[in-house]
Amino acid sequence: MKSVILKEFGGIGNLLIGKAPKPVPRSNELLVKVKSFGLNRADILQRMGRYPPPPGESDLLGLEMSGIVVEDATGTFKKGDKVLGLVGGGGYGEYCTIAASHAIPMPHHLTFEEAAAVPEAWLTAYQALFPLANYQKGDSVLIHAAASGVGTALIQLCKVSGAQTIIGTCGSDDKGDFIKSLGCTHTINYKTTESFYDSVKQITGGKGVNNVFDYVGPKYWNQNLKSLSMDGTMIIQGLLSGASVKENADIGAILSKRLNIKGSTLRNRSEEYKTDLIQKFEKQFLNLFETGALKPVVDKVFEVNDIQAAHEYLEGNHNKGKVIVRSFDFDKDL
Ligand SMILES: NC(=O)c1ccc[n+]([C@@H]2O[C@H](COP(=O)([O-])OP(=O)(O)OC[C@H]3O[C@@H](n4cnc5c(N)ncnc54)[C@H](OP(=O)(O)O)[C@@H]3O)[C@@H](O)[C@H]2O)c1
Repeated sequence: MKSVILKEFGGIGNLLIGKAPKPVPRSNELLVKVKSFGLNRADILQRMGRYPPPPGESDLLGLEMSGIVVEDATGTFKKGDKVLGLVGGGGYGEYCTIAASHAIPMPHHLTFEEAAAVPEAWLTAYQALFPLANYQKGDSVLIHAAASGVGTALIQLCKVSGAQTIIGTCGSDDKGDFIKSLGCTHTINYKTTESFYDSVKQITGGKGVNNVFDYVGPKYWNQNLKSLSMDGTMIIQGLLSGASVKENADIGAILSKRLNIKGSTLRNRSEEYKTDLIQKFEKQFLNLFETGALKPVVDKVFEVNDIQAAHEYLEGNHNKGKVIVRSFDFDKDL
């Protein structure tokens, strides 16, 4: 089959259009003709050789896609059904396999490009807000990298779930205006604000926020702990500024404020865990995509031949929401 292939680990020049073996579905899997796929920070790390696929997964890049079912031995879907889903790898190929229990029927009014923007961003955001955070209706939340794919999903989930105060941080006023339009009640441009903690303190009347959703890591550690309320929870799902807090890491607040700090990734979770998460997300929120209360946020769509430019765009932090790629033969039928 046609595929984006990685010549060797490194820069964008190593992403080439080539051929790869067509995947063969296992007994619990579907074979899907990929129509669109989403880009993720993890793809950049994998391209650079810093994020190998879990054992047993395709070594082609790509963690999410939308497409058309070609084969399903499980009897869950029929040939021609449109699906979207999370894959352990292989979304950059012309075809990919996906566990039938991980494939989500595509809401009718979504395009393939919009549907491919759902799996990673929305399931990561859903995992953060529900199984991980101790989120309660009326809570106040602080979301970092709020204009990212995950951030734009999390803002909307917080809004429909009744969060009272939604503070988002981002790196430009343009992104600030955008996240406000999605539901942030307050925005902080971290490039022009000395301390986001001072803003959080002022916004919350000194109480701090109930939940911090962090994707940045070390450089925000101390301010994050200060920004949390008593019994607050911080969920760490990304480490955009590195993995070690080098000095003066304040851990006193963990004791004095009885803080909960949790981290997680989605990719290395078991098949059962993902199935359960996907089913709960589908049941609770999929219909809100039908009504328009929730919207996949697509910033820019690239053609698969422009995969290098797509990676460059994401890596340059230009996007507000998701970067999507139309796969091979996008305009042709099955
Ligand atoms: N744990 C999981 O299961 C899981 C799953 C998916 C994604 N993630 C993580 O979630 C985060 C968002 O992913 P995504 O694909 O949605 O990202 P994305 O759309 O590529 O957006 C990331 C944004 O983060 C901001 N950023 C980058 N470096 C930064 C830094 N050093 N300090 C502060 N802000 C920085 C930039 O926006 P500004 O212009 O605002 O700076 C950038 O546009 C990433 O950390 C990713 O690894 C985790």
